[in-house]
Amino acid sequence: MSWELLLALLGLLAFVVLLLYFSRADGDLTLLWAEWQGRRPERELTNKVIWVTGASSGIGEELAYQLSKLEVSLVLSARRVHELERVKRKCLENGNLKGKDIFVLPLDLKDVSSHEAATKAVLQEFGKIDILVNNGGRSHRSLCLETNMNVYRELIELNYLGTMSLTKCVLPHMIERKQGKIITINSILGVFYAPLSTAYCASKHALRGFINSLRSELTTYPGIVLSNICPGPVQSDIEKNCLTTDITKTLGTNGDQSFKMVTSRCVRLILISMANDLNEAWITEQPFLLTTYLCQYTPSLAWWIIKIIGKKRISNFKKNSNTDDFRFWKRKRD
Ligand SMILES: NC(=O)c1ccc[n+]([C@@H]2O[C@H](COP(=O)([O-])OP(=O)(O)OC[C@H]3O[C@@H](n4cnc5c(N)ncnc54)[C@H](OP(=O)(O)O)[C@@H]3O)[C@@H](O)[C@H]2O)c1
Repeated sequence: MSWELLLALLGLLAFVVLLLYFSRADGDLTLLWAEWQGRRPERELTNKVIWVTGASSGIGEELAYQLSKLEVSLVLSARRVHELERVKRKCLENGNLKGKDIFVLPLDLKDVSSHEAATKAVLQEFGKIDILVNNGGRSHRSLCLETNMNVYRELIELNYLGTMSLTKCVLPHMIERKQGKIITINSILGVFYAPLSTAYCASKHALRGFINSLRSELTTYPGIVLSNICPGPVQSDIEKNCLTTDITKTLGTNGDQSFKMVTSRCVRLILISMANDLNEAWITEQPFLLTTYLCQYTPSLAWWIIKIIGKKRISNFKKNSNTDDFRFWKRKRD
């Protein structure tokens, strides 16, 4: 066999292995490389003060549990104080922290006038903020023309303006210390787009643009990291709290979540991104991961796929508007 043929066969083999790996991947390739070869959260996050918004359920709650196993100081924020107290109790039962290491701080992201005082309260409690995790947020599911303007206003005020306001309050402190991380839990719908999510997509695209643009203003502060973390469907209460055509109407149920990523896996990958200072990470399984890549690198090809999927999603939604999501597109988890 000639050398040329051998090299071609090796190249083909490497390509097939990469394709097989990609078909099973649950994060973008930089993130999975960081998981394999990068820095460990257990080392990088030790002794940090970490403020998590939206810590009363779903991804934020699981973040609190995984962080409580490390040596950190935690600030837990959301509106429902009793839920935050429940999360704190579980952190103390199962984690390595003591009562003084966890500060429950009620916060309404939409009440931007309270953010300055909340930031001061955290600084008074722990003396510094190393990491802000902008996680609190909400979604909606409804067709644009059937959706009241109050839903658009709500999602822009909460997902975008609320997050932006808290970021602006915490940033001067990080600039003073020339270090810190602002981790924003965005969504793959902040990278690509889908029907029935116009308000959510708009708020998350705006947020991604804000964080990316802000990062470009901070190049003289290499110690400050701004990350957009973009999960796909993840098990949480997001559907239960999801708005529909009006701000007074929610889906009210989570339905079947078996096709979604397990929350603990998503959160582990968020911690890996945090430890490795990734500017952006996509945390999702196939076929969402492939669609995100296509949207980023070949938008026309992505549109061809989204058109087909979009028609199917709308027709399923019309048949059974309370429980349908991207389920038709995903196999059930074993
Ligand atoms: N699950 C997914 O499939 C998925 C996918 C991509 C991105 N995400 C993003 O992940 C983040 C967390 O969502 P989740 O899936 O964990 O949903 P979730 O279980 O519904 O949690 C949402 C959290 O946001 C808080 N929140 C809602 N409105 C708030 C307000 N006005 N002020 C302060 N906190 C508020 C809620 O707490 P209170 O009600 O107590 O205030 C709750 O802790 C969101 O930004 C979401 O967009 C989720």
